[in-house]
Amino acid sequence: MPEEGLALHHIGVRFGGLTALDDVSLRVPAGRVVGVIGPNGAGKTTLFNVVCGIVAPVAGSLTLDGRALRPRPHRLAGIGIARTLQGIGLFAGLTVLENVMAGAGRLARSGFGAALFGLPRSDRDERRLRTWAYEVLDGLGIAGHAHAAPGTLPFAVQKRVGLARALAARPRLLLLDEPAGGLAADDVDELAALIRQLPRQATDPCAVLLVEHHMDLVMSVCDEIVVLDFGRVIATGSPAEIRDDPAVADAYLGAADTGADTPGPDPDSGTGDVGSHTATAHSDAVDARSDAAASHSDAVVAHSDAVEAGPRVDGVTS
Ligand SMILES: Nc1ncnc2c1ncn2[C@@H]1O[C@H](COP(=O)(O)OP(=O)(O)O)[C@@H](O)[C@H]1O
Ligand SMILES: [Mg+2]
Repeated sequence: MPEEGLALHHIGVRFGGLTALDDVSLRVPAGRVVGVIGPNGAGKTTLFNVVCGIVAPVAGSLTLDGRALRPRPHRLAGIGIARTLQGIGLFAGLTVLENVMAGAGRLARSGFGAALFGLPRSDRDERRLRTWAYEVLDGLGIAGHAHAAPGTLPFAVQKRVGLARALAARPRLLLLDEPAGGLAADDVDELAALIRQLPRQATDPCAVLLVEHHMDLVMSVCDEIVVLDFGRVIATGSPAEIRDDPAVADAYLGAADTGADTPGPDPDSGTGDVGSHTATAHSDAVDARSDAAASHSDAVVAHSDAVEAGPRVDGVTS
């Protein structure tokens, strides 16, 4: 049987002397929503960056539908993979609609960039893209904001525009890194409903790889959950299996023990973030390092986006 979808095989990543991922294998089959959870520092973002081609593994391999995959950040769209950016990652100088059109750029046959900047290329393509971008916005319930500048919109709407921008490329696999970050509970519920229906869409059904601290979201949307701890997979299973797995509870309790007010893994607790292993100056340093890695990787993507669609201004909100 051919191996459908994305698969990671025995992936290892090292940062200097630190093993960030060790023998990590997982699959995201077509039509499924797969979540990756784990305490801070477990390796979630590193794993995400491996799939995006931002971090190169020192061991293991990736496959897409059974064929070797060497992801490159600027070539993901071409192979049907889209990601939302940490932060929001919209072009501040473009309207919501234009941002989504930019996301759909790979669909344009005759150079969407040219059309966007008014060069004489193809009016017909531009109209087609515009119609499609409206449809995507409408599907996410935000077509009414099409002509707004992203920076003027509430955070939750901006996040949704980011999602529309990713979906406009009609991906068959969507990568989400902490999409619930900064959202209020109601917004998280709406996001969950949106994510759940992505694999079930009549047109362009899309698998999802979701890296997320937010336990409620992961438990409610994922078909399968992979739990990382210290860079290793400690459990894989359905939300119910993960909830009942003593090794998972141990990992989170270990994390919660050291952080005074960090919530535990209780999936029904309605709380968001999970604990970190060490609530000390050391872990702050660790976080600072991975933040630096994240902004670096955004810079990489920003550069490649700029090549495709003009100037990118990140962080249109503070
Ligand atoms: N660019 C980097 N350089 C050095 N260490 C890193 C880098 N990125 C991540 N790490 C380390 O790898 C481990 C996993 O980090 P990360 O993937 O960010 O975890 P998570 O997203 O689960 O919180 C942490 O110990 C982190 O400090
Ligand atoms: Mg992370």
